[in-house]
Amino acid sequence: MTSLTGAAHSGLIQNKIGAKLPVVERAEGVWLYDSEGKDYIDGCSGAVVANLGHSHPHIVDVIRKQSAKVTFVHRGAFASSSMYRLADRLSNATGMAGVWLVNSGSEAVEAAIQFALQYFVELGRPRPRFLSHRRSYHGNTLGALSLSGHARRAVLGELALDFNVLPDPYSGAPVDELLAQVRAELERTPGQVAGIVFEPLSGATLGCVPLPDGYLQGLRALADEFGTLLIADEVMTGLGRTGRMLACDHWGVRPDIAALGKGLGAGYTPIAAALVSGRVLDAIASGSGSIRGGHTYGGNPLSVAVADAVLELTLNLGLADTALVKGEWLSDALRQLAEKHPMIVDVRGCGLMWGVDLARPGGESAAAAPIGERLRQAALAHGLVIYPTTGGFNDACIIAPPLTITEDELQHLVDRLDAALTEVESA
Ligand SMILES: Cc1ncc(COP(=O)(O)O)c(C=O)c1O
Repeated sequence: MTSLTGAAHSGLIQNKIGAKLPVVERAEGVWLYDSEGKDYIDGCSGAVVANLGHSHPHIVDVIRKQSAKVTFVHRGAFASSSMYRLADRLSNATGMAGVWLVNSGSEAVEAAIQFALQYFVELGRPRPRFLSHRRSYHGNTLGALSLSGHARRAVLGELALDFNVLPDPYSGAPVDELLAQVRAELERTPGQVAGIVFEPLSGATLGCVPLPDGYLQGLRALADEFGTLLIADEVMTGLGRTGRMLACDHWGVRPDIAALGKGLGAGYTPIAAALVSGRVLDAIASGSGSIRGGHTYGGNPLSVAVADAVLELTLNLGLADTALVKGEWLSDALRQLAEKHPMIVDVRGCGLMWGVDLARPGGESAAAAPIGERLRQAALAHGLVIYPTTGGFNDACIIAPPLTITEDELQHLVDRLDAALTEVESA
């Protein structure tokens, strides 16, 4: 095919039209191999997805066996045994009462919004509004994008839903002040706010910045006082990534609804879920008794069998605890890199989800390519995949390797990052 400019190109639409990316051939554990035989360490689990690493033999075996049995039935016509198993396992692991299965993190956030809306309809007191943080990312669909000020929101223009914004918890402002502003916002719109949506650590937008201590407990108390639901977006942070099954557990806070994605399928299948508390589930079960929404592939037998095997392995291997131990090693190593490389101005994170905030090398013009993207490219050349933030608020990169990474592989990762930093600083 020939483009208008006369250049040959494929009909494939990529995020960057016509991008020339390495072609992946195969993957094993934390290693990726391209069609030229070059190896890469997956230092960000794709997009903080591949918690078990790639091509895990047990999961590959489950895929093979389940594919030979049944891959699709519609959940309105049939259930499957692994569907029940996955729901029980997820409930037991997270303490949430109900599990609604969808296919992507964005869908899980949309489902969370709809569960909150339905909850208040069931109570006979509909509430139409949501509160969230501007510096966040909740997904690429209309409702999810309207909850955030991520750069992607620009595409919606005037169409973005008019949700209200909470004060910025990452500003360094005292927690008491932040919570006083949240209270003022709730008082301004009495009986209107169905849910407060938040990420426990800002992922794709800022690069692993945790909420300040005390803030989430304060949000929980305010949500209870004003009868609002607390909705945790745990799409990136959930299922062991931060060292707990839900990152909210770090602060001892239980949300009313939680969105899961990424690590649920761990790169083996697209699957995500909205988890709801007993309070929400009971209101619906004893009210209309039904959920109107859903997506065709939601809860398909192949995806649920795979996700159930992923979760079983995650629990059996104790990967959440492992993430804490390996994360301590990684954070120490990143802090040592920060001492050596002035380009790193902050290191923060939790478990195996770390972010490095980056400054431009001295004297560089603001017109140069974003430094996070430049570091990503340099790292790729050195055989390391990292994930630059895309929110448009800062320059940072996420380092979040598979939870199964070994100590040796962590050392390789840090060595390759060191080389990439040296290259960008000396360019
Ligand atoms: C916190 C958070 N929520 C939601 C999403 C959207 O998930 P998906 O890309 O699977 O739709 C993401 C994706 O990066 C995310 O990080």
